[in-house]
Amino acid sequence: MCSIIGYYGDSAAAPILVKGLKRMEYRGYDSVGVATKSDNDIVVKKGVGKVEVVNNALHLDNLPGHVGIGHTRWATHGNVTDVNAHPHPSSSGKIAIVHNGIIENYEELKSDLEKRGYSFKSQTDSEVIANLLQYNYDQTHDVKQSMIKTVSKLKGHYAFVAMFESGILSAARFHEPLIIGIGKKGFFLSSDVLGFIEKTDDAIYLDNGELVILDRIGVQIFDFEGNAVKHQVTKVSKEFADAYKGDYAHFTIKEISEQPETIIQAGEKSSDAINTATEFIRHARSIYITGSGTSYNAALVAKYLWQKYAKIKVEPIISSELSFTPETIEPNSILIAISQSGESADVLEAVKIAKKANAKILSIVNILTSSLAQESAVVIGMGCGPEIGVAATKSFTAQLSIIYKIAKKLCDGCINMDGEKISSSVAKVLADHSKIKEIAKELKDVQDIYILGRAVHYPIATESALKLKELSYIHAEGIPGGELKHGPLALMDSSVYVVIINPNDFTYNDTLTSAREIKARGAKIIGISDKPSDIYDHWIQIPTIDDSLYPLIEIIPIQLLSYYSAIEKNTDPDYPRNLAKSVTVK
Ligand code: G6P
Repeated sequence: MCSIIGYYGDSAAAPILVKGLKRMEYRGYDSVGVATKSDNDIVVKKGVGKVEVVNNALHLDNLPGHVGIGHTRWATHGNVTDVNAHPHPSSSGKIAIVHNGIIENYEELKSDLEKRGYSFKSQTDSEVIANLLQYNYDQTHDVKQSMIKTVSKLKGHYAFVAMFESGILSAARFHEPLIIGIGKKGFFLSSDVLGFIEKTDDAIYLDNGELVILDRIGVQIFDFEGNAVKHQVTKVSKEFADAYKGDYAHFTIKEISEQPETIIQAGEKSSDAINTATEFIRHARSIYITGSGTSYNAALVAKYLWQKYAKIKVEPIISSELSFTPETIEPNSILIAISQSGESADVLEAVKIAKKANAKILSIVNILTSSLAQESAVVIGMGCGPEIGVAATKSFTAQLSIIYKIAKKLCDGCINMDGEKISSSVAKVLADHSKIKEIAKELKDVQDIYILGRAVHYPIATESALKLKELSYIHAEGIPGGELKHGPLALMDSSVYVVIINPNDFTYNDTLTSAREIKARGAKIIGISDKPSDIYDHWIQIPTIDDSLYPLIEIIPIQLLSYYSAIEKNTDPDYPRNLAKSVTVK
């Protein structure tokens, strides 16, 4: 999603802004821009493409001045064009803004401002903030008053930073992230600590409904009524500084490779929260579990595991669906929200709906300072470190690991979570990529891949399909084994590849029968199993492990296969087209 950055200080602003935007590239974007305050003017440069490409062409980092704002845009309103890229100046050019979120009433505000003589260049909703702020500033000649008047008119979700001609920066937060970095030589405003972590690890996390002014006085924070607000400075975890690729070609492969450690670490610092969550789950009348994308697939695994091992029923809900069926949530129930970022708008909306029905919110999140964490009664930290690759990998297995740890407690230890064994099994799968690389070469020109799994392996099949779609852009579909003959079999021919998730457990024989039926129709079979079979055209061996634990292991080869397929197809595995790491709009 869009990233915003601002700098006010003694150093040259533009290079700091460009570097900050580069560090936040993982959030997803299609265009980039920077504006700085030079001697007399606000100067803006922006264009479509990657930060590096646009910077090489336009020299964004050469803009003069010690104050500036920058942005990477993920298009929502208006096409991907230079004009629609941020920053947006007001029609007089005396204020420029960068914005993340959606202004729902922008059309109404825009026509009102047009009647008052303010003109618009872009198709975006964001430009209305620049002109509304300009109008209010023209009326009040006061930064704070103009910000208060502006936020009182905006409807929607937003974080924005405005740069005034005087060189003052001001920003507001409403349901989109915005963090202040306190440096020795200046202040930062950013969507993400990665925007300024190289310069400082002192941060203030603004709350919703707060605005900030950065000027010669320093940092002043107010609520939307204008009352001064005091905040503690937080030391940002040093782990964020580790968000470098190191020797790896991509973040995605680095993050896949970290899993022998991250699976074990997951939830380790949240053992009290896991205990509390377990007690809530044990005694709840109704339990719902929600998430988007990968996190929803983890929720599906929880349904199978908790039911099988602890006889506890939990209803998985796709977060984006809940607003259409809010009656699903029974009063006084529990909603478990899973989210790596803790900022997915769909998940936050689901939480809002559940809270209306007095549900208690438990969350499994990676970013402990996120909006979801703030909304939750119990927060379990995934603790897997920053995940930069857009396609979730280590965060998925960290989510599973926590779900297993809860399952183990719920069934009084009936699952044998041998950390060393799990870690070494994952490491074994990761030890040799050669076979997977070979298969990826074959998949390069394939149009359709199906992934088959039964019981708890079905959510792993849907997660596998998601990884293949995100990383390799190959159409992929997860199928519960038994459903094959109820439709998908019609699609099987020699052009199709089918991945069979077939560990040697209670699903083995039935899944092998499905593989035979597919093979008879000419499709190629990739078997993921600890047991060889001549049905498989390719056998990807996984280690034998306790029956209950296979899901933690079997996803790893598919993550690798998706990554190497992306490499074969020459796509960027870290930043798949059109996708964003944290989708902060509905
Ligand atoms: C986006 C990402 C997915 C991710 C989903 C949920 O769609 O592209 O990879 O699974 O958001 O993200 P969350 O941060 O809520 O887990």
